[in-house]
Amino acid sequence: MSEAAALVALRGASFAYEDGPAVLTGLDFEVRKGRALALLGRNGSGKTTLMRLLSGGLRPHAGQLTVDGTPVSYDRKGLTRLRTTVQLVVQDPDDQLFAASVAQDVSFGPLNLGLPDAEVRARVEEALAALDITGLADRPTHLLSYGQRKRTAIAGAVAMRPRVLILDEPTAGLDPDGQERLLATLDGLRASGTTVVMATHDVDLALRWADDAALLTPSGIRTGPAPENLSRTELLREAGLRLPWGIAATELLRGQGLLNDGATGPRTAEQLAALAGPRR
Ligand SMILES: Nc1ncnc2c1ncn2[C@@H]1O[C@H](COP(=O)(O)OP(=O)(O)O)[C@@H](O)[C@H]1O
Ligand SMILES: [Mg+2]
Repeated sequence: MSEAAALVALRGASFAYEDGPAVLTGLDFEVRKGRALALLGRNGSGKTTLMRLLSGGLRPHAGQLTVDGTPVSYDRKGLTRLRTTVQLVVQDPDDQLFAASVAQDVSFGPLNLGLPDAEVRARVEEALAALDITGLADRPTHLLSYGQRKRTAIAGAVAMRPRVLILDEPTAGLDPDGQERLLATLDGLRASGTTVVMATHDVDLALRWADDAALLTPSGIRTGPAPENLSRTELLREAGLRLPWGIAATELLRGQGLLNDGATGPRTAEQLAALAGPRR
């Protein structure tokens, strides 16, 4: 991976919670511009911790966080600069939402940056539109459904116009339609230039969505192209993950001569069904 393309990176980063064992040790990790990155690992492997280090909520005890190759300073100015570069959406929207209405909640970040009112309004409108929740602007947050709260939390991050949007297990708790809508929203954000990172333990989702997959294992983190990393059975085992069914289906189809060597295999049941021909 080329140094030049690293937008945000951790170099030799170590972290432990107070009185706890080391969660991450000597970790090298980078977020490359424009690459959809999935961070995978079993529960407790350190995904959330790593994301909080990337977004400045936690500070590494050793090593450093860099933006465009420059070390981040953890003073007010440095953290403000980091917040406008990296935004983290936490797993549980109820940990993020606190204002009375959706629009108020989404406006909090931009207001805190001291932006003029007109700019704040424009950003809130843009973020609500990107998340398809314009109609909820005046709705009290405590009356929203879980999926709506999740979208509101993401809108709050989007309103900061970050270059990197990090989502911690964003599909957890969403129904299938909610998941599809979220993936479509993320596609839209990526198309407008936002680099998106997500933590998940859903290998099938990662294979379908990500360009790169980073797997957290007890012996370190392994980052590489998603189709390659997610077909390495030994690495998956080390990370406590299973083989994505799309990899198994692809191998079967190739073996049966039903898929050309260069062709990408099915990533969803619908794509597999399409290979079988038209459905009645
Ligand atoms: N606030 C905290 N205080 C102490 N230990 C924590 C805290 N948050 C997480 N941990 C511990 O750090 C390790 C990594 O947790 P976490 O980053 O949440 O993993 P993941 O998101 O992959 O499930 C776990 O052993 C967890 O128990
Ligand atoms: Mg977590």
